[in-house]
Order: sequence, then C-alpha cells, then structure tokens
Amino acid sequence: MRNANRQWVLERFPEGIPAETDWRLVESPVPEPGDREMLVQSLYLSVDPYMRGRISPAKNYAKGVDIGEVMTGSGVGEVVRSNHPDFEPGDIVESFQFGWQDFAILPAEGTRKVDPSLGPIHSALSYLGMPGLSAYFALLDIGQPKPGDTVAISAASGAVGQIAGQIAKIKGCRAVAIASSDEKLAWCRELGYDAGINYKTAPDLTASVAEACPNGVDVFFDNTAGPIHDAVMQNLALKARVIVCGTVALADKFGQPDIGPRSLRQILVARARVEGFLIFDFQDRYEAAREQIAAWHAEGKIRHREDIAEGLEQTPAAFLKLLRSENFGKQLVKV
Ligand SMILES: NC(=O)c1ccc[n+]([C@@H]2O[C@H](COP(=O)([O-])OP(=O)(O)OC[C@H]3O[C@@H](n4cnc5c(N)ncnc54)[C@H](OP(=O)(O)O)[C@@H]3O)[C@@H](O)[C@H]2O)c1
Repeated sequence: MRNANRQWVLERFPEGIPAETDWRLVESPVPEPGDREMLVQSLYLSVDPYMRGRISPAKNYAKGVDIGEVMTGSGVGEVVRSNHPDFEPGDIVESFQFGWQDFAILPAEGTRKVDPSLGPIHSALSYLGMPGLSAYFALLDIGQPKPGDTVAISAASGAVGQIAGQIAKIKGCRAVAIASSDEKLAWCRELGYDAGINYKTAPDLTASVAEACPNGVDVFFDNTAGPIHDAVMQNLALKARVIVCGTVALADKFGQPDIGPRSLRQILVARARVEGFLIFDFQDRYEAAREQIAAWHAEGKIRHREDIAEGLEQTPAAFLKLLRSENFGKQLVKV
C-alpha cells in the first residue's frame, strides 16, 4: 500500500476545451476513516464527459468542483479499513465519490459492493455501470423503441452509444451509428449496427442522415448536441422521440447558450417529443437493469469495448481524450 495519497486538484476553471494544466497533482497523508466510514484504495477510475460540466461555474444539475478541491469522479476500489459494519477489508466497492486520487474516504451511503460474478470489476464503471444503465433507461424509457423503428445514435461507439445500439437491435430496431472515424464505424458494424455515418467526412450531414434513414428517424439518441443534432433533427419521422442524453460537442463553449439552427418546425411537423435524460432519476431500478444487461452480456447479445489508461498520473489526459474523440470505447484509468 502507498504511504501517501496522490490527488488531482482543480487549478482553474477552464475556458473552452480544458488542458492538463487545469489540474495539479498533490500529495497528502493517507486519510483515516471516521465513524461509519471506510478507507478505500482506488483500483479503476472512470472519466466521463459530464466532468466538463463539473469544472465550470455555470449552473448544472449537480454541485461542481471548486478551485483547490479534489476532482470528482466515480471509481472501483478495495476497502482497506472499515468502521462500518456492512463493509470489511477486501470488499470491492463502487461509488460516485472516489475522486481522482489513490485513496478515498467513503460513507456507506452511495457505496455499492461489486458482484465479481457479473463481470470483471471494472465493468461496474462501463456496461454494468453508469454508461450501460444510461443506455438502457434512456433508450427504453424515453425512446420507447418499437420493432422496425430506425434508431440513430451519436457517439455511437462510445461507452453509452455502443450499448444503446445493441439494445436497439435486441428490440428489433434498425440502428444507425454516427461517429468520427471509419474505424469506429467498423466496430459499430461488428456490434450489429445496420448503417454508419462518419460525421467528420460526410460533405452534407443532413443528406447522409436522410440516405441512411430513408423512412426518417423514429428514435434519436443524442449524445452530442451540436451539428450532428442539427442534421438528425432535419430527418425526424412522424412521432419521433428525441433523447437528449449528452452535449459533449458543446464542451468548448460550456456555460454559453447553445445557439444554432432551431428545429421547432421539424418538431411540430413530426409531432416529435424531445426529452432530457438524467440517469439519477432511475436509481430505484438500477439493480434490475444491471441484471438484464449482465444476462444479455452472458448470452453474447451485448459486447463492449474499453479504453484503459495506466496510472493515476494519466487521469487528466484520459479525460481529455473524450473531448477530442480519441477514446475508443469506455475510457477508464487503471490506478
Ligand atoms: N444524461 C445522463 O445521465 C448521461 C449519462 C451518461 C452519459 N451521458 C452523456 O452521454 C454522452 C456519451 O457519454 P459516454 O460516457 O458514452 O462517452 P463516450 O461516447 O465514450 O466518449 C465521448 C465521445 O463523444 C464524442 N465527441 C467528443 N467531442 C465531440 C464533438 N465535438 N462532436 C461530436 N462528438 C463528439 C466522441 O465520439 P466520436 O469519436 O464519435 O466523435 C467521443 O468518443 C456524453 O455526452 C455524456 O455526457 C449522459
């Protein structure tokens, strides 16, 4: 066990796309758990696009990180010391409250024991964790896909997108991937997506969506906002459902209003429904969804890909890969 705790603290609020120098690596003594708390050693940390919102003073759905505070984030780790009767040293746990550091003090609330029989422990941060659950609830509850529907998914090869595409196929839909490279689209095809659009090379994105979705888009799983959103909104089918899951394309103008073409006419004509999605609204159903995804995975109906950086010192760089389209699959850090 290390005898010091390395921690990434926020140095400044970035403007536009963040840089590695927006955080600073500091060392402090390994902390002691208080009453009903645990000391947990980080094994894997998750880096996620939502973290862009946490390092901005702009209004958000959750509290942000202040200058000098340890960067927030979820992880999987091993309990080293426990002052709580429900946890003991050696337990593998997952929590949203790890932060970018070697050791975290965790309360029992919000800390979950990881069941290693469901998959490798880091899958608790990918297809059996927040990304997989987001794909599941956003697609099924908000998208309400029916057999034969066309489902278009942006960031289609990413942590959420790759699972959403495969669930769309399980539900008998036609899945259309939108991603930044032919390599990522080839992987989407392997997963079962029926068609793919490279949004970086398509000369006219709206026309490419029309070509790939000749009957229009019944369910739009929007992971990005920005120009991809604008192109898909021109191609909505009657009674389309638009799931606003993420806005990663706005990372360079976070906190500013999202000004672009307005789609109100398209929404009216298609009588479409546009709905924001937030995973935390589905907490009481996490366990049932996790079991379903694990079962699909065991049956070979769901595959996944992870992109694992090595070492805590790589954490800011791993996060920045998400905002540059450089990750290929769920981005994790092996501490
Ligand atoms: N609302 C919720 O509760 C919730 C929960 C989980 C995730 N999300 C959101 O879902 C989205 C996907 O998250 P994830 O964890 O699965 O990440 P991810 O897709 O694994 O990684 C982010 C991806 O975003 C794409 N991207 C980055 N910059 C872009 C840009 N300027 N324009 C278009 N695409 C860009 C890249 O894919 P390409 O290579 O294809 O460009 C990149 O690989 C994010 O927006 C995230 O915030 C929301």
